[in-house]
Amino acid sequence: MIQVANLTKTFKDPKRGAVHAVDHISFQVRNGEIFGLLGPNGAGKTTALRLLATVMRPSEGTAVLGGYDILREPEAVRRQIGFLSGDMGLYLRLTARETLTFFGRLHGLNGAPLKARIGELLARLDMEKFADTQVDKLSTGMRQRVAIARTLVADPPILILDEPASGLDVPAARVIEEFIIEAQKTGKAIILSTHVMEEAEYLCDRIAVIHQGQIKIVGTMAELRAATGKERLRAIFLSLLGLEALERKAPHAS
Ligand SMILES: Nc1ncnc2c1ncn2[C@@H]1O[C@H](COP(=O)(O)OP(=O)(O)OP(=O)(O)O)[C@@H](O)[C@H]1O
Ligand SMILES: [Mg+2]
Repeated sequence: MIQVANLTKTFKDPKRGAVHAVDHISFQVRNGEIFGLLGPNGAGKTTALRLLATVMRPSEGTAVLGGYDILREPEAVRRQIGFLSGDMGLYLRLTARETLTFFGRLHGLNGAPLKARIGELLARLDMEKFADTQVDKLSTGMRQRVAIARTLVADPPILILDEPASGLDVPAARVIEEFIIEAQKTGKAIILSTHVMEEAEYLCDRIAVIHQGQIKIVGTMAELRAATGKERLRAIFLSLLGLEALERKAPHAS
């Protein structure tokens, strides 16, 4: 369970002045729910997820993840979450298997249980063929799978995924999507960011459209359709951003 209340991050940028990257956002994610943050480039998705993952501190507001407050108990929060950051943050000299072993140990796993867990992840994410290859010799999609496996190695109850399918081809993205859906079935609370409409529509139980740091709307696809009078998520998205003119030019928009 994730509860976000008035979460805010303002960067003081010497050239741009105050940048309101995340501007008083509030929402909840239940256990067993996939919640999508959908927004254009620069909307504040990565910043919001980094705040939840306790990588940086908010300027205002807070969030409670699995019962722990990101301000008061960041270490306890970190034990509850698997965080996939946009830049993956992998060690290039380690192999996939070494990466998983390293992170498993970091989370207190050892010996046979860790080995079994890693074996299971390598098989389920179809990584066995490159399990013992150094990360710097892997393709983008392979690296993304290593990064995803790493967030799952300790089996945390909460997943925070920044653009999990970015850089992946359709088959690889499908593997990741199925994995996220399986994680949902085991009752995890999952928040992910994306700007891919199909991904949000296919995966997410509820979607928050974020623009210039603010949440424009939160709801199920049915609720978003009812609120905007549009059918396709692409049209809903553009209308919420005030870009309906763009939508009309698109040949397949409805
Ligand atoms: N460390 C920082 N210092 C100053 N400004 C920042 C910093 N990090 C992010 N920003 C600004 O905050 C805003 C939101 O950025 P963020 O990376 O959260 O967007 P995003 O929605 O993840 O975009 P994208 O789809 O391109 O990944 C942008 O205007 C960005 O320039
Ligand atoms: Mg981002």
